[in-house]
Amino acid sequence: MSFSVAIDGPAGAGKGTIARYISEKFNLKHLDTGLLYREAARLVIEDGGTTLDVVRLEEIAQKVDTHHITEENLRTEEVASVASQIAVVPSLRRVLTQKMRDFSNDITPDYQGVVLDGRDVGTVILPQADVKIYVTADEQVRVLRRTKELESVAMQEILEGIKARDARDGNRQTAPLQVADGAIVLDTTFLDIKEVCEKAAEIVENALSDCEGIDNMSKTSSCLSKK
Ligand code: DC
Repeated sequence: MSFSVAIDGPAGAGKGTIARYISEKFNLKHLDTGLLYREAARLVIEDGGTTLDVVRLEEIAQKVDTHHITEENLRTEEVASVASQIAVVPSLRRVLTQKMRDFSNDITPDYQGVVLDGRDVGTVILPQADVKIYVTADEQVRVLRRTKELESVAMQEILEGIKARDARDGNRQTAPLQVADGAIVLDTTFLDIKEVCEKAAEIVENALSDCEGIDNMSKTSSCLSKK
């Protein structure tokens, strides 16, 4: 596997913006893993089915196509809430996790590597990632950011949604949101988006030059190709 960056954190911490920035700056293929859970949630809603039917959930997860997810209609509070509810089901997670790993292993030579953002990238999906960043921010700041993004939704509704998802994503039995071993914690509470992106880019830059350092010392040992 090539160079890999794992970015995790709760809703509204800024991980999506960071991942997109890092992806462009370092030419890394990007996957927002939350979109796979949101797409599965959209299919569940469309199916009109119960989120507790484990067999049906696994079938739905199989239908999620990593390469053809359109964000349209997935950025709603309803989809986010159902995504977080179905994300506690281990068999659904197994299917989606495999899809995310397949995506990460399928890097064409025009990319330098991969960047994934989500809740369990550094802990479960890519535990051997070259760079792990855990992005966080105070709850109030995250609520304010989401309120600006979702202009038509009341702040109270967003607060309740974020509280419920933080609790569910952080306390579930399988792959709960937590700081991965070796992750650098980036608290974005008092940083604007430009500062956040620059800090993250610095972390990735350092890791890349470490890789190149190893490469220069020994042509047989490069962390860009060791995995
Ligand atoms: O990042 P997001 O808000 O789009 O994610 C929606 C939900 O999907 C989140 O509340 C929990 C779930 N999720 C997950 O369990 N693991 C991931 N790697 C990404 C998202």
